[in-house]
Amino acid sequence: MPKVYIETYGCQMNEYDSEIVQAILQENRYQFVVQPEEAEILLLNTCSVRENATRKVLARVHALRHLTNGREKIIGLLGCMTTNLRQSLLENKKMRIDLMAGPDSYKRLPGLLDQALTDRKAVHDLKLSRSETYSDIHPFRAKSVNGWIAVMRGCDNYCTFCVVPYARGRERSRSIDSVLNEVRRLAEQGFRQVTLLGQNVNSYHHQNHDFAFLLNKVSEIDDIWRIRFTSPHPKDFPDSLLKTVADNSKVCKHIHLPLQAGADRILDRMNRTYSRQQYMDLVDKIRQYCPSIALTTDIIVGFPGETDEEFENTLDVVQRVQFDSAFIFKYSPRRGTIAARKYPDDVTPAQKTERIVHLNAVQKEISLNKNRSHIGEAHQVLIEELVTRKSDLDVQGRTDGNKLVILPKGDLQVGEMVSVRISGASANVLKGKVIQASIDLSAHSFIFH
Ligand code: 5AD
Ligand code: SF4
Repeated sequence: MPKVYIETYGCQMNEYDSEIVQAILQENRYQFVVQPEEAEILLLNTCSVRENATRKVLARVHALRHLTNGREKIIGLLGCMTTNLRQSLLENKKMRIDLMAGPDSYKRLPGLLDQALTDRKAVHDLKLSRSETYSDIHPFRAKSVNGWIAVMRGCDNYCTFCVVPYARGRERSRSIDSVLNEVRRLAEQGFRQVTLLGQNVNSYHHQNHDFAFLLNKVSEIDDIWRIRFTSPHPKDFPDSLLKTVADNSKVCKHIHLPLQAGADRILDRMNRTYSRQQYMDLVDKIRQYCPSIALTTDIIVGFPGETDEEFENTLDVVQRVQFDSAFIFKYSPRRGTIAARKYPDDVTPAQKTERIVHLNAVQKEISLNKNRSHIGEAHQVLIEELVTRKSDLDVQGRTDGNKLVILPKGDLQVGEMVSVRISGASANVLKGKVIQASIDLSAHSFIFH
C-alpha cells in the first residue's frame, strides 16, 4: 500500500477537498500517514488566492525535497495553484513537481498516482468541469464537532481581483437530496454542527430551490444543532434568506459579509456589483431582521488606484458598521485576473503596509468593545476542543455568533452544548463560566415562520 502524506493550505473549501481526496485514495488502496518522512507520496493542496499562500507552498516543496530521501518521493500539487499557475509551474526548471491535479480532477487521482509511481514521469490533469460536485463521495473526516460540506463550487462573479473563477471554474450546485444525505450521515457519526461551504454559497440553487430553502431543509435533521455557512456574497441576500437566518433557531446568528472596499469607484473597479450605500443598507436590513447578528468581513487594502481618500472611505464604513471582526489583506495581483491585466499595481508596498496596520488597529478596538459588551451575558457555547494552546485545564468552544470562548475544563466534553456566563473579553476571545451543562438540543422544537 503506497503511503501518502497530505498538507492543506488556504480556505475551508480546501480542507474539505483534502477530505475528499483522502476518501478517494483510501478506497484505492493508498494509506495516509501523518509524517512526511514516512510517505512515498507528498501532496500539497494549494491556494493561489493571494501571493503569500503561493510563496509558502513553493518554499514547502523546496523543504520537502530536502528531507532524507526527498528526491525519490513523488511530490504532487493539488488545488488552485495548479489550474491558475499551470504554465509557470510546468516551466519551472528549479522545482521538480511530479504531479498536478486541479480541483475537479480528484476522482482521477488514483490513476495519476499509479502512473507517476510506475513511469516516474511528471503527470498532470488540470481540466475544470462544469458539473463535478463530488456529491457521490463521502469525505474522510476526523472525528470532530463541525463537519464541512460543499454545497456549491466555483464562481461566476468575476470580481476583478479574484482568481477563483479561473482556478476553480464555473458555478455549480449539488442537489438538495445529496446535501441532506450527507448531513444525515454527519449527524449519525456524532457531528453536531455543519458548515455549508461554497465560493459564493448563497447563490446556491438547484432546480427551483434556493439557499434559504436548503438551510431550512438541513435544519429539519435531528441531532444537528447548529448550521453555519461561508462565504456569501452581499448580492445574494433576498428577504427570504434574511428571514431564515433570523427565525430558524438552528441557523447561527453570524454572517460573514465581505465588504472588500468602502469607496464606490474601487467597488466598481473590483466589479463587486454593489455601492457603499447598498452595502450599508443591507447591513441595516440584516440588523432589522436580526438585531443580535454578528457580522464579520473581508477587506482588501491597496487595490490599484486606491487613493488616501478612498482608503478613508473604507475606514469610515468599518467605523459605521462596527464589524465583530475583519480579515484584512494587502492587494496582490493574481495572474489571469481582470485587475492584473487592466490596472497597474500602483499602491506602494509601504502604503499598503501603512493602511493595513491602521485598519487593523481600528478594527481591533471595535472588536474589543464588541466583545466587552458581552460581559455579563449568558450564551450557549458548543464545546469544540478539549485543550487550548495556553492551558490544558481549559476548553474552547463558540457562541452562536461564532465568538471563541475559553472555559475551565471541569467535566466538560467535546460536543457538549453548555450555557455560559461571559466574564471577560479581549479583542479575539471571550472567557466564561458554565451556568448550565449538557443542554440536549435534540428534543428542541424549532419554530419556522
Ligand atoms: N489580493 C488580496 N486579497 C485578495 N482576496 C482575494 N483575492 C485577493 C487579491 N488578489 C481576499 C478577499 C477575499 C478573501 C478570501 O481573500 O478579501 O474575500
Ligand atoms: Fe484559496 Fe480561493 Fe482556492 Fe480557497 S478557493 S484555496 S481561498 S484560491
